[in-house]
Amino acid sequence: MAGGSIVTQVGGKEYPGNFTLFVAMACLVASSGGLIFGYDIGISGGVTSMDSFLSKFFPSVYRKAKEDVSTNQYCKFDSQLLTLFTSSLYVAALASSFAASSLTRTSGRKWSMFMGGITFLIGAVINGLAVNVFMLILGRILLGVGVGFANQSVPLYLSEMAPAKLRGMLNIGFQLMITIGILAANLINYVMSKYDWGWRVSLGLAGVPAFIITIGSLCLPDTPNSLIERGHSEQAKEILAKVRGTKDIQDEFNDLTTACEDSKLIKSQWKDMLEPRCRPPLVVTILIPFFQQLTGINVIMFYAPVLFKTIGFGDDASLMSAVITGVINVLATVVSIIVVDKYGRRVLFLEGGVQMLICQIAVGVLIGNAFGTSGVGELSKTYSMVVVGCICAYVAAFAWSWGPLGWLVPSEIFPLEIRSAGQTVNVAVNMFFTFIIGQVFLTMLCHMKFGLFFFFGGWVLIMTIFIFLFVPETKNVPIEEMVLVWKNHWFWRKYVSESDIHVDNVEMTKKSHVKTP
Ligand code: BGC
Repeated sequence: MAGGSIVTQVGGKEYPGNFTLFVAMACLVASSGGLIFGYDIGISGGVTSMDSFLSKFFPSVYRKAKEDVSTNQYCKFDSQLLTLFTSSLYVAALASSFAASSLTRTSGRKWSMFMGGITFLIGAVINGLAVNVFMLILGRILLGVGVGFANQSVPLYLSEMAPAKLRGMLNIGFQLMITIGILAANLINYVMSKYDWGWRVSLGLAGVPAFIITIGSLCLPDTPNSLIERGHSEQAKEILAKVRGTKDIQDEFNDLTTACEDSKLIKSQWKDMLEPRCRPPLVVTILIPFFQQLTGINVIMFYAPVLFKTIGFGDDASLMSAVITGVINVLATVVSIIVVDKYGRRVLFLEGGVQMLICQIAVGVLIGNAFGTSGVGELSKTYSMVVVGCICAYVAAFAWSWGPLGWLVPSEIFPLEIRSAGQTVNVAVNMFFTFIIGQVFLTMLCHMKFGLFFFFGGWVLIMTIFIFLFVPETKNVPIEEMVLVWKNHWFWRKYVSESDIHVDNVEMTKKSHVKTP
């Protein structure tokens, strides 16, 4: 059988190491980088539908929105200008993730986290105080730069700090913070939409999570991997012993040092990435964020209020429903944290995919049945509840599969020397497609109508098959031994030659318990 045959204990090697308070604290602080991303995802949709905000900064949009009295539920008023304002952040994040790549590699993961925090902080202040569109857009660009730096460095930091057996759990702390950020933003918008100046508070409060990660990053040690890579071997050894809670770290330290030897030989991360041995992680890292966005999740995250209004809820009820999806998003991420290192990444990806597909088909059928192609109709209370129930089941499925794994898997599958560039590819592709979906969703809804749910469902089917065939299990595999996973995969093995395997204890490949198809 294809990808499913990979078992996780490549080589059966296990490093000693405990779940220490030190590693828990370091990962908790670093994960707070996810808060800034999440807060932004949650805040923009609500703010751009506040009347006081629109009339101040986008008066023409405001006027047109008020004039729009169409009864077609699929084609409510949409403004490219406004969505462009929202999505501009993602373009800035995309661009800055390239700058983050070299900072993360040459100066360490922690300084990129710091850069992320401080630029986001400045952006939040400018936005909160904005008196004109220029300030608004400048602030937004800085927020984007902050997200680019944080998303590029935090997942790497977490994956490198964590002991192999807990890597999934600790890395998903990042996604958990994203979901908490989204929920906090939804709640704040809900309260603030009642006040004229509410938008200022909503935008300005983004400074709180930014402050946490800015100060937090200054207190964090860098990862042993990055320290060795930058020539600080002694310090790396100390940190490794501290995070693992044992002095018995020589094996792991040797693997890290071997990985760093390779790292020193490369001239350009980007050129190296194109070598055949990097083909497997590169292809997976391009496709995972692309697919993550084509699950359609951000249609719910950005447009939940619009969507719930479309299916017949009033203003307040639609916000409340968005809060409900927010809570489910957080809770289901916790489920992922609990099971990811036990059952593995593939089980979650596959189960999540099937569940999302079923829900998308159900929502498409229910909405199509109620509104047909004309988009005119009304839903009874019970009917709406069923639709909301399906949307919640869909959000839960995403939140324990593609949400966290979209950040975890790309951060753990590259060799050290190009891990930073690899993560940039992940962020850039993710931001690009988040931008595209944000930009075209309302137009797509207007044209494809309820078929839009089948469109995303089709993509979910494709991505689930892709995982089944091409994404090997990586749970419990030490991060610097990932090459063995590719070497043992039925499809990817042809790209990895024996000479590419520089794991300290090469015997491991021979002793490998990997069942080959
Ligand atoms: C995705 C975001 C999404 C969020 C929802 C993240 O993993 O990258 O695009 O909005 O999950 O929780």
